[in-house]
Amino acid sequence: MNPKSDATQLSQQKQSVETLRWREGRLEMIDQRVLPMHFEYLAYTNAKEVAEGIRSMVVRGAPAIGCAAAYGVALEALASQHMANDAFIQAMERGFTELAQSRPTAVNLFWALQRMRACWEKSSSAPPPQIAAILLEEAHEVSQEDVRINRAMGAFGASLLNDGARVLTHCNAGALATAGHGTALGVFRSAVEAGKKISVIADETRPFLQGARLTAWEMVQEHIPVTLITDNMSGHLMQHGEIDAVVVGTDRVAANGDVANKIGTYMVAVLAKRHGIPFYVACPLSTIDLSISQGKDIPIEERSRDEVLGFRDYRWAPVGVSVRNPAFDVTPAELVTALITEKGVVHHPNVQNISALFR
Ligand code: MRU
Repeated sequence: MNPKSDATQLSQQKQSVETLRWREGRLEMIDQRVLPMHFEYLAYTNAKEVAEGIRSMVVRGAPAIGCAAAYGVALEALASQHMANDAFIQAMERGFTELAQSRPTAVNLFWALQRMRACWEKSSSAPPPQIAAILLEEAHEVSQEDVRINRAMGAFGASLLNDGARVLTHCNAGALATAGHGTALGVFRSAVEAGKKISVIADETRPFLQGARLTAWEMVQEHIPVTLITDNMSGHLMQHGEIDAVVVGTDRVAANGDVANKIGTYMVAVLAKRHGIPFYVACPLSTIDLSISQGKDIPIEERSRDEVLGFRDYRWAPVGVSVRNPAFDVTPAELVTALITEKGVVHHPNVQNISALFR
C-alpha cells in the first residue's frame, strides 16, 4: 500500500494544486490527512489501494473521489493486463466492488464507476492490454473534464457574487476536492479572476477540519482573503451583517433538489434563510442522482467515533461516552437559493428544473 511517498515542504510548492496526478504508470494523490503541515504525494498501483486511499480520506471531496475511482479501474486493468481473459475479468470485477465499497455518500464515485464500466463494455472484445490503455485514456478524460466543468460553474457562480462580497463556505469544495479549480472555491477563484474583490469566511468543519486545514490553505496559497471561524460562529456573523452569501459544494443532490453535503451544511442553510442570505450550491451534473427522489433516501456515511473523541493523537472526551458521527446531512431544497451547474444557474431547484438539465 502507498508504495511511494514523496515528502516536500509546503513552502516549496507552486500555487496551483494538483490533487491527483499520473506519474510513471502510477496514480499519485496529495495526502489530505496531513495538510497543511505536510505536503506529500502517495502513490497507488491498483484498485484495492485506491479504495483504501478513498476510505481513509487521503483523497476526499465528491468529484476527486470520482476521479480517483476512475484511475483505480484503469490501474486494475494495467496491473492485470497480462492475465488470461477470465482472470482479467475477475480481477476487474473485484476492483469495481472494492472501489464501490469505499465510501457511500458521494454519488460521483458511482457515476465514475458506471462510466468506466460502460467504457470497458464497449472495448471488451479487445485484448486486455488494449482495454487497459483505453480505460487509462478514459480516466484522464474524467479528470480533464472535471476541470472544464468547474471552470464553467465558476463563471456562472461568479456572476452571482457582488464586488466586495463576504462569502461563507463550509467544508472544502476546492481544487483539493476535485481535479482542479474546485466547485464552491472555483466560484471564488473565478470571481477573483473576473476582478471582483471578495473575501471568504471558512468555518472549520468539525470533526475532520476540512475548512480549517484545506479551504484555509487553498485560499492562503492564492492570496484570496480568508477568515477562519469555528462552526458555531456563523450565526453570530450573519446576525451582525458580516456575511453576504453562502456557497457550498455537494456530495449528492436528489431529483427534487435536496442537497447532501458535509455535516453542518443544513445548520448553515437554516441560519442563512433566517437572515435572508442567499445559499448557493455548486453542483456538477455528475453529482445529481435522479434515481433518488428525495434527500432522506441518500445514504449518509457514519464515520469512526475516534474523529469526535479527539483529533489525531489528542483525546479530549471521557472514556465511556457514546458518540455519533454522521459525516453528511441533507439540506431541503426549499432552503437552497440556487444550484450552480455547468449548464447554468438553477434558481429554486425542484423536480422540473432539475430534470430539464438532462434533456
Ligand atoms: O468527507 P469529505 O471531505 O469527502 O466531504 C466533502 C464535502 O462534503 C464537499 O463539500 C463535497 O464533496 C463537495 S466537493 C466539490
